[in-house]
Amino acid sequence: MFSHRIEGLRPSPIRAILSVIDRPGMISFAGGLPATESLPEWSGSVSREILQYGPSEGEPALRAVVSAQLRRLGIDAPVERVMILSGSQQGIDLAAKLFVDPGTPVAVEFPTYLAAVQVLRFSGARFVDLASGEARGARLAYAVPTFANPTGSCMSDADRGALATSCLANGTVLFEDDPYREFAYDACDRTPVAARMTGGSWIYQGSFSKTFAPGLRLGFLAASEDLFERLLMLKQAVDLHSSRLSQHIVHEAVTGPDWEDRLDRLTAFYRDRRDTFEGALQRHFSGLAEWETPPGGLFYWLRLRTPIDTRELLGEALERNVAFMPGEEFYPDRPQSGTMRLNFSHAGAEEVERGLATLAGAVASHS
Ligand SMILES: Cc1ncc(COP(=O)(O)O)c(C=O)c1O
Repeated sequence: MFSHRIEGLRPSPIRAILSVIDRPGMISFAGGLPATESLPEWSGSVSREILQYGPSEGEPALRAVVSAQLRRLGIDAPVERVMILSGSQQGIDLAAKLFVDPGTPVAVEFPTYLAAVQVLRFSGARFVDLASGEARGARLAYAVPTFANPTGSCMSDADRGALATSCLANGTVLFEDDPYREFAYDACDRTPVAARMTGGSWIYQGSFSKTFAPGLRLGFLAASEDLFERLLMLKQAVDLHSSRLSQHIVHEAVTGPDWEDRLDRLTAFYRDRRDTFEGALQRHFSGLAEWETPPGGLFYWLRLRTPIDTRELLGEALERNVAFMPGEEFYPDRPQSGTMRLNFSHAGAEEVERGLATLAGAVASHS
């Protein structure tokens, strides 16, 4: 089940020692810890201890919050199997290292998140389409079932069930990437596929980037028992642990009285942006493209009536000061021309109107 290159993977002895040095009365000659009294004084609620090295798994308090949240979603995620990540991008890197050797079959959606393709390809993955029969032979199945990047689509209850059943039946590890689940604008089933993976191998991950602040670089994962320790050893080897300052800031936010309100406000704000975007698309792209209104997340996925290579269109658009992501980039291979991903969370109404008018002009010049 695991990649050949992790055969030499061992737990870091220093990390094992560091995990107990906070014990009262412990005198430590281990580790290369700076003197805590030499660490800078910070303002507000940040103690010097937070600026010292910390546990690879993450801060216990933040892990507990994540664990409770995932258990509410039906995921088997006791706190011992929750890890804080330096961005959920790190989870993809850890999973690639754990499972993928050159030629390892990995099932993904076509199209899928491009930075996942980048990482998995770097490890030598042989990509197969999650929706095809070939997926049965995959070692790992990477999916963004809820408000996918790039398509914005939400997997039906039946498809979620089928994905879990197929992974369980074929011994495929499910890797569910779920950074957009909070941003639901219309009703759709969001039950994590990982919640149906009893008895199988799975990783479920989420992110604080979209709900709070991407610059803090914090995400989290939970994994089945057979995987967690190895993922942790891989993380130790990458960065020892995620920023404790970031974890402190996020913990204060998610346990603060305003957190649920913040999520509601954000969702309402982005729903508004989606509706504004939809209106502008109707005005400028009717006749030029087809699309489904995304029920959540941050993206529209357009299929142009004329299947031009949107990588070339991008150059023309950039000259006119409009940027977008060519859809071709989201296919591991056999890219579908005439597709584009448009993000609707960032630009304001006036920019959306002007940007889409300009982009439609560039597309129309190819029709
Ligand atoms: C599907 C998906 N996974 C992972 C990430 C990485 O997010 P993070 O900022 O948590 O590293 C993104 C970011 O856009 C994403 O869309």
